[in-house]
Amino acid sequence: MLNYTFVQNIKILAGNGCIANIGEVVSSFGYHKALFIHGGSLRRSGVATKVEAALGRYGIECVDFERVKSDPPASLVDEGAAFARENGCDCVVAIGGGSAIDMAKAINLLRFNEGKILEYAAKPHVQSPGLFVAPTTSGTGAELSTGSVLTDTEHDMKIPVPVNNSMPEVVFLDPELTVSMSPAMTMQTGLDAFSHAVEGYCNLMSSMMMDPICEKIMEMIAESLPAAVADGADMQARARLQAAACMGGWCLTNVYANVGHSLAHVVGAHYHLVHGSACSYSLPPVLKHMAPAVPQKVKRIGRILGASFDGGETPEQIGEKAAAAYIAFRDGLGMPPVREAGVVVEDIDALAELVVHEPFAQLTPVPVDHAAAVKLLREMLGL
Ligand SMILES: [Fe+2]
Repeated sequence: MLNYTFVQNIKILAGNGCIANIGEVVSSFGYHKALFIHGGSLRRSGVATKVEAALGRYGIECVDFERVKSDPPASLVDEGAAFARENGCDCVVAIGGGSAIDMAKAINLLRFNEGKILEYAAKPHVQSPGLFVAPTTSGTGAELSTGSVLTDTEHDMKIPVPVNNSMPEVVFLDPELTVSMSPAMTMQTGLDAFSHAVEGYCNLMSSMMMDPICEKIMEMIAESLPAAVADGADMQARARLQAAACMGGWCLTNVYANVGHSLAHVVGAHYHLVHGSACSYSLPPVLKHMAPAVPQKVKRIGRILGASFDGGETPEQIGEKAAAAYIAFRDGLGMPPVREAGVVVEDIDALAELVVHEPFAQLTPVPVDHAAAVKLLREMLGL
């Protein structure tokens, strides 16, 4: 009987400056013409020109698609795939944050599958090779996570599209690409990655193979995030955060998240909070909620964050201590209090219903019913 799976079949090339090798790598697969997906900032920083030159040295032509948007609209993915076809592109290169990589995975899928991208939220797709990506943020882990979150602008909804067969052939983890992130973005993306590790660790799908990876991700972020926020040019901290976030994406693929991300998705969508900030506000009440079911794991999280335990604590006290340690860590990075986020909740019952029915909530070790969701929301939002 198979109780859990453990999959990672994407080649990762890592190291300072490794993006310079992209031409050699892409040409080794036999490709000649790349759709190049990125946002405008990559052009302004000069990185886009360098990547085009690196590809050009190996005879690979680039067709620019400089149209990345945050919360990528599904219609933009449809346009991108049509644009790739019209221009005869035989591969896709994407450099950017989670939105760029989510767009790229979805555009790559549509190059080999007829129709519009949202159709594939609920139906399978054939293998779609030829994608090469390099993340410029250290948070979402989109380079290894097998979903693409797109916005259905007609219905104002976020739709996760499974992209299991449209994943990158090669991921370039080049820490130098993350140096231009501001301290605030470094903090928000790093806290998102930390939440992926916590929520994968305390999860009905957690396994004895993923658990040590989740622990290590938390340790690496607890150690390196304060350093990278304080000094964006600390390359060792940047490299460790990049590796940790990438492994966090792998956790999402194998064990998903829990109600922490359900709260962040619901509150984030309604009040336009940055995803990593929303995750950081949801985590303390979630740690307390889960402690009765997984006290040893919550204690371990607390210890990673600097809390000490004398062994006599009840599960509830373990939850309190771990939550306090997380809040001290988060606030010490400079995260503003949730009351400054401008969230004015008029109907908490309606929000709670959305949380209860958000798919990740069902993976929480302690069930999340309506009353629990109201309690979690109240504490998350300081109501
Ligand atoms: Fe996340």
